Amino acid sequence: MQGGKTIQLHDRTFEPYLSEETILKAIDKMAQKINQDYHDKSPLIIPVLNGAFMVAADLLKRINVKCEISFTKLSSYSGTSTTGTVKTLIGLGDDIEGRDIILLEDIVDTGITLEKLEEEVEKFKPKSVKVATLLVKPDAYHFRIPLAYVGLEIPNKFIVGYGLDYDGLGRNLRDIYVVTN
Ligand code: IMP
Ligand code: MG
Repeated sequence: MQGGKTIQLHDRTFEPYLSEETILKAIDKMAQKINQDYHDKSPLIIPVLNGAFMVAADLLKRINVKCEISFTKLSSYSGTSTTGTVKTLIGLGDDIEGRDIILLEDIVDTGITLEKLEEEVEKFKPKSVKVATLLVKPDAYHFRIPLAYVGLEIPNKFIVGYGLDYDGLGRNLRDIYVVTN
């Protein structure tokens, strides 16, 4: 994304990185694949708050199979890096047993959040579990869970916007920005 303005959040400067258009194209493709794979199913989609709220809205608008949505809230980040421990802030509420589950993340970095969530979901005996994520940092992901639906791969840099924050700020931005230093 060229020529956009840099922005300041707290003590850091960010520059434009992925445009809203690029993001929505990636989500279109994710939705197409999901629509094909689940054409005869009725998945329960579980987005991880807070970050995944925006991708959840745009992805769900593009899903044309019967589906349900139920948010969960986990947190592992503090500032610009992961703390390594994941806190559950809103647990899994809906009936997961026997359901086809799609876990929806904004971004998979270390994979710690996803591991923990997957473990929790498995306890409720779902029929199947797949993972969808708008973004993945491939250099950083060390865990065993395959990512079935990936929007875009990005380098291991800190980004904000489109749901993603830097210490609370930046979630409302339509585009994604990368830290400049
Ligand atoms: P993981 O547990 O290390 O995979 O981290 C996943 C979570 O950390 C994501 O759901 C995001 O909320 C957050 N996160 C990871 N990378 C970034 C980033 O570059 N910017 C903002 N949040 C991030
Ligand atoms: Mg998140």
